Amino acid sequence: MLAPTALLVGRSYELEALQAALAEARRGSTRTVVVAGEARIGKTLLLDELVSRVGPEAAAVVGRCVDSGSGPLPHAAVAAIVLALVRELGRDEVLAAAGAGADVLGAVVPGLVEMRPGAALDRLPDVLADLVASVAASRPVVVVVEDLHWADGATRAAVARLARLPGDARVLVVLSYRSDDVGRGHPLRPLLAELERSRLATRVELARLSAGEVAELARALGDGGLDALDVERIADRSEGVPFYVEELVSFVGTALPESLRDVLLLRYEQLDPGVRTFLRTVAAGGVSVPHDVLAAAVGDPDALDAAARAAVEAHVLVAAGAEYAFRHALVQEAVYGELLPGERTRIHAAYARAYEARPATARTLAEVANHWWRARVPDRALASAVTAQAAAEATGATSTAAEHGERALELWHEVPDAEAVAGVSHHELLARARSDHA
Ligand SMILES: Nc1ncnc2c1ncn2[C@@H]1O[C@H](COP(=O)(O)OP(=O)(O)OP(=O)(O)O)[C@@H](O)[C@H]1O
Ligand SMILES: [Mg+2]
Repeated sequence: MLAPTALLVGRSYELEALQAALAEARRGSTRTVVVAGEARIGKTLLLDELVSRVGPEAAAVVGRCVDSGSGPLPHAAVAAIVLALVRELGRDEVLAAAGAGADVLGAVVPGLVEMRPGAALDRLPDVLADLVASVAASRPVVVVVEDLHWADGATRAAVARLARLPGDARVLVVLSYRSDDVGRGHPLRPLLAELERSRLATRVELARLSAGEVAELARALGDGGLDALDVERIADRSEGVPFYVEELVSFVGTALPESLRDVLLLRYEQLDPGVRTFLRTVAAGGVSVPHDVLAAAVGDPDALDAAARAAVEAHVLVAAGAEYAFRHALVQEAVYGELLPGERTRIHAAYARAYEARPATARTLAEVANHWWRARVPDRALASAVTAQAAAEATGATSTAAEHGERALELWHEVPDAEAVAGVSHHELLARARSDHA
């Protein structure tokens, strides 16, 4: 299999637009650019290229929003940005620059600073903006926030605040999101509309590659081993999405599939039935699954190790620390789609029990609630949604809390004696939902 290339094909216009914004920020302006494009179209590669061109006299920090499988992982991108600034400047300078409210940073980066009880989490956007502005007083700062389709409410508020830094702050904010994931009613929509309306941001849209660009990429990846017909087929089947070009180049010489979805399953389909069963189990756990949770869900450690090895060797999974992750979220989705209904509910119930056995963090409780929901076990789904809602509220993740609350309300009428199961009244649940949405 070919490793993804760092080679950037095309995109000269888009890169120029980003570099022009960078040049303006260096000269003393504040600029925000929104990079939009469908899944796997090349947003990250383009932004990596931009960051590599920033140079040592400016600070560039990158944060990514993360989907936990049961909603956005709270503050993920903000935490990464704060940590990157700590690496760049040192802890003391970061705390000094963040000013009076610095202790709020302890809520997103545990251990960085002790949080005063009652520290107001809603100050996070202001504190982050003060921090970035203060660093920018001595050098230009580039802040990249990727994958905003997975942002939680606090991260969206922080981004909106950064875009509103004074016009002469010497800051370039670059935001990316998957346009195909942000449909009507998506919570990112109002922020995007606001940035556009107020002319605070410019947009860069990443379109699919042209046939000529696909051919260039395929030839580079194929290392001289592709003939004209191969290249033509790849241009045809990939529909210009670079990720599919990479996958298809790896399978030249075999019968190439007709649909894009089948491209995602190429590697999966080649594996033994036992490994495929294992992969469907992993897929039900989300894009990445902790090893111990997976072991509990699979129930047979020897079988797990053998299957995991085969899946890693086939480049479907990667082992990252104590987790197994799909190399691509799109592949996870496609493999998840291969689950039969009975298989799906059984495996989700096994995950729910496995997460229940772990220490009860907000993240674990969210997983428990998500898996009972997907396992279609209404009473457990209701009880765990109420618990996860409270845990999310306690960490200031109100949009996550709101999602759990909505599910609890949806489940209420399916559960006999719901009040006893949930441990709260319907009235109380409605009141909590209102305050989470406030
Ligand atoms: N213009 C390009 N030239 C060469 N390779 C590319 C190009 N664009 C994307 N790729 C390759 O395609 C794959 C997907 O790209 P990338 O991860 O940047 O997409 P993305 O839009 O960030 O995806 P996601 O929506 O999952 O975040 C990567 O392996 C990348 O190296
Ligand atoms: Mg990306």
